[in-house]
Amino acid sequence: MTSSSDFFSKTPLELKNLSENLGISPETLKSYFKDRKLPSDVHLQKLSEHFHYNKEQLKILWGVVDRETLEYLQKNLDVIPALKPGKRRIKKLNQTMNTDLGTLYRNDCLDVMAGMEDETVDLIFADPPFNLNKKYPSGMNDLLKEEEYILWMNRWVDELCRLLKPGGALFLWNLPRWNIEISKRLNKSLYFKNWIAVDLKYSLPIRGRLYPSHYSLLYFTKGKKANTFNPDRIPMQICPKCYGDLKDYGGYKSKMNKKGVNITDIWTDIPPVRHAKYKRRKNSNELSIKLLDRVIEMASKPGDLVFDPFGGSGSTYIVAELKDRRWIGTDIGPSDEIIARFKILDTERQILEDYRKDMNCLFTEQSLTQRKKRKLWTNESFEGS
Ligand SMILES: C[S@@+](CC[C@H](N)C(=O)[O-])C[C@H]1O[C@@H](n2cnc3c(N)ncnc32)[C@H](O)[C@@H]1O
Repeated sequence: MTSSSDFFSKTPLELKNLSENLGISPETLKSYFKDRKLPSDVHLQKLSEHFHYNKEQLKILWGVVDRETLEYLQKNLDVIPALKPGKRRIKKLNQTMNTDLGTLYRNDCLDVMAGMEDETVDLIFADPPFNLNKKYPSGMNDLLKEEEYILWMNRWVDELCRLLKPGGALFLWNLPRWNIEISKRLNKSLYFKNWIAVDLKYSLPIRGRLYPSHYSLLYFTKGKKANTFNPDRIPMQICPKCYGDLKDYGGYKSKMNKKGVNITDIWTDIPPVRHAKYKRRKNSNELSIKLLDRVIEMASKPGDLVFDPFGGSGSTYIVAELKDRRWIGTDIGPSDEIIARFKILDTERQILEDYRKDMNCLFTEQSLTQRKKRKLWTNESFEGS
């Protein structure tokens, strides 16, 4: 691409020739080149064909920064040498906690990632701020312009893709609004597996739209084949009041897997973290360890390395630790809440065990007792038949 001053300095003769070639009056061309007025769409098209620049490149020359030109720049970062990936300076990091399995930093995740080797991470879980103007302990700005937020997401997503091992898995938790945007970027480097809808209400009804009732959890792998894919099976859904079947399983009851039903891409059993007994973080979003347990169990093995760039209250690190995964964590804000949580690891272990005892079975212990009492079918009804 030429420098913009070369492009705009046109002699009267050049303008005249251009006018004849393009069928645009010399006065109009003068306003475009001398006064730098943005050409109309039709004229941009003609100029694009004449100069062999695409429309976005021409708009950038005319100094227009809009959605279209920003997207063009994001896709072609190498036209801006300073933005080429891998140029970030490696900084000295601020390590705030260590266990036998993991390391926690209080740093910008981009700085932590800059010091990490390519293709070294087995599983990534990322739950960034959602740009909803939330108050975080770090005081970070959680209300960026849309374009800036997308640009910021692209930067760390590109780094995450670089860090992921072939066959490794990446999970990205966000509002559907933002996960639509970032999917395009992820699709360039990774293989799309699922858009998991996690049924959780998170705001008040919005006028003119349906009541938002799910978070999006994107699941991508590096390459088509995942190194680990070991999803839990879950109990069959039954009526919470009468414990009866919600679906008619007809003649299939006897063939149902004792370990439960296949998990789908709609998760309805993840609890919000509201109760004081569970909540470790006073103000902001903390994810249930049941969610992290499911993700870590599904896509990693003991000894694997798990990375979460947005620590928050440390739910990912706690579950990784309890499940013998190595982990690296960071948050731009204070680490106190995470460190305090590691001091009550046994309490967290108990909560996790309580969740896990209801996994990989067709009926939970409680529903099994109730169904037997009500003479409803259970696995035992078919034993010996
Ligand atoms: C939504 S919270 C994560 C909550 C976490 N998943 C949990 O369950 O507790 C997002 C976190 O990202 C942190 N954060 C924001 N920008 C960051 C950055 N550039 N690098 C590292 N952490 C950042 C915020 O301080 C906040 O704690």
